[in-house]
Amino acid sequence: MMKKLVILLAIASITADSSLALAGSTPKTGVNGSMHDINVAGGGTYKADQFQRVCVFCHTPHNALPSGLAPAPLWNHAQSTVNLDPYVWASPANATIIFNADPLIGPSRLCMCCHDGVTAVDSHGSAGSFNGGNKEMTTHYTDALSNDVKRYITDCTVTHPIGFKYADALAARNVGTDTELVLPNNGYIGDNQLVGVTFNSNIRGSLTYSTKTIANTLYGGYLTCASCHDVHNSVNSVPAAATVAAGKSYNYFLYAQEEDSAICLSCHIK
Ligand code: HEC
Ligand code: HEC
Ligand code: HEC
Ligand code: HEC
Repeated sequence: MMKKLVILLAIASITADSSLALAGSTPKTGVNGSMHDINVAGGGTYKADQFQRVCVFCHTPHNALPSGLAPAPLWNHAQSTVNLDPYVWASPANATIIFNADPLIGPSRLCMCCHDGVTAVDSHGSAGSFNGGNKEMTTHYTDALSNDVKRYITDCTVTHPIGFKYADALAARNVGTDTELVLPNNGYIGDNQLVGVTFNSNIRGSLTYSTKTIANTLYGGYLTCASCHDVHNSVNSVPAAATVAAGKSYNYFLYAQEEDSAICLSCHIK
């Protein structure tokens, strides 16, 4: 009887896991098994590693690729060589916020090693073995809302601005009593904090926040892809129960939830 129950529970958990797997992967459960585990990403679209290593597609303990990439944390993946123009500010108040010569400064260029649509996702460097992968991220896919989306970025002028200093933005936007940006020593809005509440700036003080602060995610003060996304799927947000129950689960590796735009309100006072 006990055995049967265990088997039933095992089946139930497999079913639960596979439904989440369809939606992407379970948030906050680490790199292994996530969309950043290239051995399983895209349902086997990419060539797996011979030893089933996970970190190897991005890091290696020895003989990391010598590269001009900064930062390159023991980087083990072909470089992205794309050069993209920065975003163009819409708000005149932002005129003094200057972009770095390379808007992909910091981890952004590491992300683009796979998300540029031209560098093979499943290639990995010289250490141990080269697995001979050669598949670029070029296919469209169906997201949690059944829309056709692409996961590669080819134009930074139409993506959220990156490659500028958060401090410059604070100087431009927080003038006198006009406070438009959250100070970087604050965390991201915690899971389910905005669900079912009437949100206005006055309740900010009563919300709970992640221990990962905005400052922790800036690279040398610069806002990058990694200021919104947690590449290791370890401390990111979990979608609200109602979203998951409606069959619209997601895992965009975000530091705060999509629901009520908690991710956006983590930085913007709007
Ligand atoms: C080694 C390659 C690689 C690197 C480096 C990489 N990614 Fe990914 N990423 C992938 C793959 C593969 C997927 C799953 C997409 C697919 O199946 O084609 C993915 C998925 C994602 C998704 C989820 C997309 C969705 O629709 O749910 C996000 C968000 C993301 N990556 C952001 C980033 C960010 C930000 C960085 C840098 C901090 C980064 N990635 C670095 C390969 C990579
Ligand atoms: C898809 C690519 C990718 C995979 C897979 C990956 N990492 Fe990373 N890792 C990154 C990127 C990009 C950075 C730098 C930016 C950041 O930390 O957001 C990084 C940074 C790090 C750092 C230094 C800074 C930090 O955030 O702690 C460590 C340590 C690290 N990774 C360990 C690991 C380990 C261990 C694994 C395997 C279990 C792993 N990573 C898998 C992309 C990856
Ligand atoms: C200001 C926050 C922010 C920054 C910076 C950011 N993203 Fe995203 N990203 C998001 C959000 C939020 C989503 C979820 C989709 C949505 O709401 O449209 C997302 C979705 C994605 C997806 C899934 C496909 C899609 O378009 O929906 C990928 C892949 C991705 N981001 C990669 C990146 C990469 C690579 C960078 C840097 C070049 C980056 N992101 C910078 C917030 C950000
Ligand atoms: C990590 C902090 C951070 C997050 C998260 C974030 N932003 Fe931003 N965003 C900024 C900063 C800093 C600026 C530049 C200063 C400004 O315009 O307030 C900016 C600029 C913008 C701009 C451009 C304004 C212009 O003049 O062109 C828009 C629009 C915007 N963000 C919307 C969003 C939305 C929507 C989200 C959620 C999907 C989001 N942001 C998430 C920090 C963030």
